[in-house]
Amino acid sequence: MKKLVGIEALAIAVPRRYVDIEDLARARGVDPAKYTSGLGAREMAVADPGEDSVALAATATAQLLRSNNVDPSRIGMLVVGTETGVDHSKPVASHVQGLLKLPRAMRVFDTQHACYGGTAGIMAATEWIASGAAAGRSAVVVCSDIARYGLNTAGEPTQGAGSVALLISEQPDLLAIDVGLNGSCSMDVYDFWRPLGRREAVVDGHYSIQCYLDALSGAYRGWRERALAHEVVRWGPSLPGDQLSRILYHVPFCKMARKAHTQLRLCDLEDAPNAPASTAEAREEQAKSAASYEAQVASSLGLNARIGNVYTASLYLALAGLLQGEGEKLAGQRIGLMSYGSGCAAEFFSGVVGEKAAKRMAQAGIESVMAGRERVSIAEYERIMNLPYEAPDQIAPAPGAFRLAEIKDHKRRYVEGA
Ligand code: CAA
Repeated sequence: MKKLVGIEALAIAVPRRYVDIEDLARARGVDPAKYTSGLGAREMAVADPGEDSVALAATATAQLLRSNNVDPSRIGMLVVGTETGVDHSKPVASHVQGLLKLPRAMRVFDTQHACYGGTAGIMAATEWIASGAAAGRSAVVVCSDIARYGLNTAGEPTQGAGSVALLISEQPDLLAIDVGLNGSCSMDVYDFWRPLGRREAVVDGHYSIQCYLDALSGAYRGWRERALAHEVVRWGPSLPGDQLSRILYHVPFCKMARKAHTQLRLCDLEDAPNAPASTAEAREEQAKSAASYEAQVASSLGLNARIGNVYTASLYLALAGLLQGEGEKLAGQRIGLMSYGSGCAAEFFSGVVGEKAAKRMAQAGIESVMAGRERVSIAEYERIMNLPYEAPDQIAPAPGAFRLAEIKDHKRRYVEGA
């Protein structure tokens, strides 16, 4: 029997504070509907320097191991996908290993390619297990990031922060990944980047949207070619993309998922063999189908709308949001996942939701993580944004959570909540 590999369990960590996106719009003199309806946002996580990518990654990983009773000796690989690492050399993953006192006998490294870094880690872990090289061991892949464009920028309402930790194993209770069906598309572009030494990203916003859509087209067509060859989908009365129960997208802001879904449908409508002759305008109109978006995409965006962009973790927040709400209903059904990282790289892959998805999601305790947050004013958000990176607020971490306490002699010291 073919080995099943994929995501066994997940856990999330978010900053303790957030702003309401309408408060931000009003403070910036913008019609709140631009942020809520134009971008699809509701709330935005606000991380202070104590909640850096290490602290969030360690908090999510601790929760993953604790709530799923994972024996650390079964972990053979620990990967952190991040584009907001804290050192040019020492990986975030090594901090996580140390803070959680994980065994030495494992591979520990970071993966970086903008928001695609987490997916790169998941594919490395999945294929390592599928190849047999893992010899029965599991991997932990953590996607952890602080999305930061700065005050009064066009990107400001699309910031956010958080972490998603995923256990990858031969017991894919959440999602069995279709190993080998991936489609990839990479291009050398400057759409979004963060030069060395800068805290804020530099972005060519509208061009970045176009790069995302172009890369999606290549990645989706690559996946579809393999999926057709393996008869996972077929050309027929329904389009291949329609044969996936749900499609999750990288979510820099929620409206981007709608644009992405339109583009994916357009790929199918343009390529359909024996399609009735139709104009480009008619295909574009059909691609925008609100019914298709509501049926396949909308239900995955709840957490993204309340947290904001989390770069590498955004796609996996969408997975968490989807399975939290529909894990039971989707058991045994195939979903598609589309990862995008600026620079740029896109990967489309698919998987089948596990029978125990709802039970595993209940263990993740996401509702209590979200309920533990505190709404802050825009003045407080601006104070936090203006804190130097080496001056975290001196707040005791919640039990089981980690925070950066200080940086001394270029070494970072973290504390754990008792
Ligand atoms: N009521 C309702 N809707 C309104 C409105 C109003 N009063 N005013 C404007 N809107 C709508 C606009 O029509 C537009 O919708 P459409 O795109 O569907 O036409 C939407 O609100 C946004 O308006 P603008 O395009 O005018 O907004 P903007 O120019 O200020 O900036 C942005 C938008 C480019 C996304 C900017 O927030 C940004 O640069 N964000 C960061 C970059 C980003 O997220 N890129 C995504 C692709 S790259 C990627 O995915 C990697 C990553 O994670 C960064």
